[in-house]
Amino acid sequence: MKRFFLGMVVGIILVPAAVILYLTSGHAPAATADAPLPFERLIAKTALHAKIRKEMPTSVPMEANEAAYLAGARVYRENCSMCHGLPGQAAPAAAKGMFPPPPQLLQKDEMVTDDPPGETFWKAKNGIRLTGMPGFGSSLSTQQIWQVSLLLANADKLPPSVQQALASPSTAAQAPK
Ligand code: HEC
Repeated sequence: MKRFFLGMVVGIILVPAAVILYLTSGHAPAATADAPLPFERLIAKTALHAKIRKEMPTSVPMEANEAAYLAGARVYRENCSMCHGLPGQAAPAAAKGMFPPPPQLLQKDEMVTDDPPGETFWKAKNGIRLTGMPGFGSSLSTQQIWQVSLLLANADKLPPSVQQALASPSTAAQAPK
């Protein structure tokens, strides 16, 4: 019985007290450059994946063709490139200072071409909480979000016209190399 009460005291008082002490001590991560909390990534990704699995659309309501990619490229340049960058260009300055960092979605090793377009659609529409990834559901049309999602899902095999549309230099500040 004594042990039980000791356990209760530790569980109900000491553990929360330690957490509060940690959070108010100035040692917990708050700046983007701070090291992540233990399990931060695991907790955030598990919740996100569970929600996306439940909610993402499984069929694509438009054809993935050159016209869709070109429209998607316009949407991307105006709304996404200041964080996610453009092909063959230095990462944007904003991207260098974010945590988690925005993947450079048009650079070969950071593309989302393995994700179903519906997953990218969900992320672009709803955003990813506490990461800096905005949701565009109230600022872009459903059609525009699909266009940019199809662009990103096929980023490794875009026709030359689309590559050209993406290639002109960005006006966003770029980080020094
Ligand atoms: C203000 C910066 C910012 C803008 C603008 C932005 N994003 Fe993001 N995005 C992020 C960040 C940061 C992440 C990383 C989130 C994470 O690690 O969970 C991200 C993640 C993503 C991902 C997930 C990538 C992966 O590897 O799973 C996709 C897809 C995405 N963004 C698409 C877009 C699209 C499409 C647009 C434009 C319509 C856009 N983003 C605009 C910051 C931004």
